[in-house]
Amino acid sequence: MNILLTGGAGYIGSHAAVVLTEAGHQVVILDNFCNSQLSVLERLAKILGKPVPFVEGDTRDTELVRKILKNYKIDAVMHFAGLKAVGQSVQKPIDYFDNNVAGTISLLQAMRANNIKMLVFSSSATVYGAPQYLPLDENHPTQAINPYGRSKLHIEEILSDIEASDSNWHIACLRYFNPVGAHESGIIGENPNDTPNNLMPYIAQVALGRLPYLNVYGNDYDTLDGTGVRDFIHVMDLAEGHLAALSFINQKSGLNIFNLGTGKGSSVLEMVKAFEGVSGKSIPLRVTNRRTGDVAACYARVDKSSTDLSWKATRTIQEMCSSTLNFQKNYKCNNLS
Ligand code: NAD
Ligand code: WQD
Repeated sequence: MNILLTGGAGYIGSHAAVVLTEAGHQVVILDNFCNSQLSVLERLAKILGKPVPFVEGDTRDTELVRKILKNYKIDAVMHFAGLKAVGQSVQKPIDYFDNNVAGTISLLQAMRANNIKMLVFSSSATVYGAPQYLPLDENHPTQAINPYGRSKLHIEEILSDIEASDSNWHIACLRYFNPVGAHESGIIGENPNDTPNNLMPYIAQVALGRLPYLNVYGNDYDTLDGTGVRDFIHVMDLAEGHLAALSFINQKSGLNIFNLGTGKGSSVLEMVKAFEGVSGKSIPLRVTNRRTGDVAACYARVDKSSTDLSWKATRTIQEMCSSTLNFQKNYKCNNLS
């Protein structure tokens, strides 16, 4: 298939570009590079042995998207483009609703104009809000607790109304849990900010001696060791989940919602131990107050994705840690930015 990847130069989209291309699909990337670098395209070409077609532009430019869909004879769209920093979304809600919600509406208008009705959307486990029970299945009530989460929920609601209005749409809504890790080449991965907000990139910076210690946000949760528990999933497993979702919706219409996680929760301290194991470095810790908005534990029930998509995450926590470390080492040393 010819597949448009909006936000395909970003962390998850770039890994999906590798998996989809290696599976024989032709991908085209549309990205405005607001949170990625042009050099990702060279790195993708290095991994794949051929250039990846791309257009620099914005999903909100409906006319541009319409032209891309037509010129590249696109069959399906994977919609990764969006802003994703929870804290920033609280400060700048208008930007988040504009980029995420208006960007999606613009894309959907362009798709409708070209009669393209196959879409894989990057949603998030954040739409579940505070878990009422665990593991979280796809029928768990949704309740977003910040503007970022609300933008994802609004988009899910829009997609639900669209499929109700026209049975020709084939949509997969993928609710990612905590994507981590990097491609084995070590040349694409999560682009680290100066000081990361997320656990895994932060631990890697400490392991590499670039930050002095890890702040552990609370050790008095009702979990096995008192620290937060999350469902960390290797980004390559996640990317393979997209391939599986695409073949599923190729056969099935409607709105199909899937959790993409491993089904297993790991605590902050377990991740620290795993990192120490693969890096051979000890990670100094300071236990601090709980972070506002955090929940004690969050992990997926994955029965639906495993049955319907015939897909399962297989990579271990050690692989998540070693690939993260490998990428972060390369990123600084070889000036990948
Ligand atoms: P990312 O920031 O690395 O990638 C997003 C890409 O989209 C970037 O390359 C950015 O430049 C581009 N982009 C943003 N707005 C755009 C626009 N209007 N037009 C064109 N390009 C635009 O993020 P990611 O981690 O790869 O996440 C991809 C998607 O998955 C996002 O929608 C995110 O909300 C969702 N998601 C991510 C996580 C996570 O933890 N990484 C978890 C759940 C869901
Ligand atoms: C994991 C655990 C922290 C950093 C976020 C978004 C979510 C989704 C994925 C997009 C928690 C603890 C963290 C640190 C710590 N993104 N922690 N010290 O919060 O589960 O999810 O990313 O959809 O929407 O909210 O991930 O990696 O930030 O935190 O102790 O320096 O690590 O308290 O228990 P989170 P995270």
